[in-house]
Amino acid sequence: MSAIRKLFLSHVAQTSEMSMCLEVSHASGVYIYGSDGKRYLDFNSGIAVSSLGHCHPEVVDAIQKQAATYMHTMVYGEHIQSPQVEYATLLSSVLDNGLDSVYFVNSGTEAVEAALKLARKSTGRTEIISCSRAYHGSTIAAESLRSDDDFTRNFLPSIPGVRHIDFNQPDQLERITHKTACIILEPVQAEGGIIPPVDDYLIKVRQRCDETGTLLILDEIQTGFGRTGYLFAHQKYGIVPDILLIAKGMGGGMPIGALVAKKFLMSALAKNPSLGHITTFGGHPVCVAAALATLKILHHQSYVCEVSAKEILIRTLLLHPLIKTIRSSGLMLAVELNDAKHLTPVIDAAIRNGVLIDYFLFDQTSFRIAPPLIITTDQIIEGVQNIIAALDEVNQNIKK
Ligand SMILES: Cc1ncc(COP(=O)(O)O)c(C=O)c1O
Repeated sequence: MSAIRKLFLSHVAQTSEMSMCLEVSHASGVYIYGSDGKRYLDFNSGIAVSSLGHCHPEVVDAIQKQAATYMHTMVYGEHIQSPQVEYATLLSSVLDNGLDSVYFVNSGTEAVEAALKLARKSTGRTEIISCSRAYHGSTIAAESLRSDDDFTRNFLPSIPGVRHIDFNQPDQLERITHKTACIILEPVQAEGGIIPPVDDYLIKVRQRCDETGTLLILDEIQTGFGRTGYLFAHQKYGIVPDILLIAKGMGGGMPIGALVAKKFLMSALAKNPSLGHITTFGGHPVCVAAALATLKILHHQSYVCEVSAKEILIRTLLLHPLIKTIRSSGLMLAVELNDAKHLTPVIDAAIRNGVLIDYFLFDQTSFRIAPPLIITTDQIIEGVQNIIAALDEVNQNIKK
């Protein structure tokens, strides 16, 4: 075992007992390079983060310039910092749907926390509805939104007032009532194994929220920034949320998130009492500068428009007897195998073959493909060939 791996396992806290333990040397474009010189095609983007690939030159340039100009100056909201102002103004104009106020935070989970607080405070109601098999983050409130008791029972008590409904079941929308402060859901269930909304499900959610005065919080932390083939998935599915949550791909590889809402709603965090949500590092100027460069590239260049053709290419090439079906929305794909017991061998073999694919939290039969949006046709072919070789290898072993 290498010295750095030993130190990693001894001193860097682990989230599981089966870390991938990939020793990163450097990363560029769609590739991550191991310290042993091996090159890995990143078919996963650090779970939908590196949409512009690794170390995009314009993002790196923005980070370097901002770091040399100023970094942290005061906790969020006190000083006027031009990266925040420029970002919030550009995002409001790109959204063009009335969501014109951006509250910057550090992560997806913090965006969820702040949105739940905003919903309870502005409605005066306490009930929160979330969908089964959804993941919204790892703090106690965000974990309370999870439906899998096997997990959540280890961290009880959850926050009170959370009820679950099943995604894509319009009959259950009756459970949203005049007592419900908010419903929080993803437009495409990500960790559930890429479950797109059926028919006009999201439109029905919007209608029910309007009937009951319930706020619709849309978690676009994974679907945002072009992943589904639209800059935001709610544009694809024809709804406008009350509170939009963004993070992951937002920062071009830097840690940042935000909640976006209409100004009059967001202002509930600023009065009676003021300081309704505060954050020391949220909207850090270097992270916002990276986010601004990312948004400008996605807005002005053609990557988002090319997502659908790349999705079709992967679906067309990735055919194998071990595959049962593929679900997708743009460049977020779940490849479901015929048998769950083949999942780990296939993922391990693919990584050995130099292509990084990953698991889902709530779907034990499928692997995830979510490459950077900048991926080229040749790189898609390379990745799919390596996955097929992994599937072949596992298939051969079954026959032995
Ligand atoms: C849909 C969704 N919401 C929220 C989160 C939490 O984001 P973060 O890890 O930045 O706290 C994630 C992270 O995977 C996510 O996929």
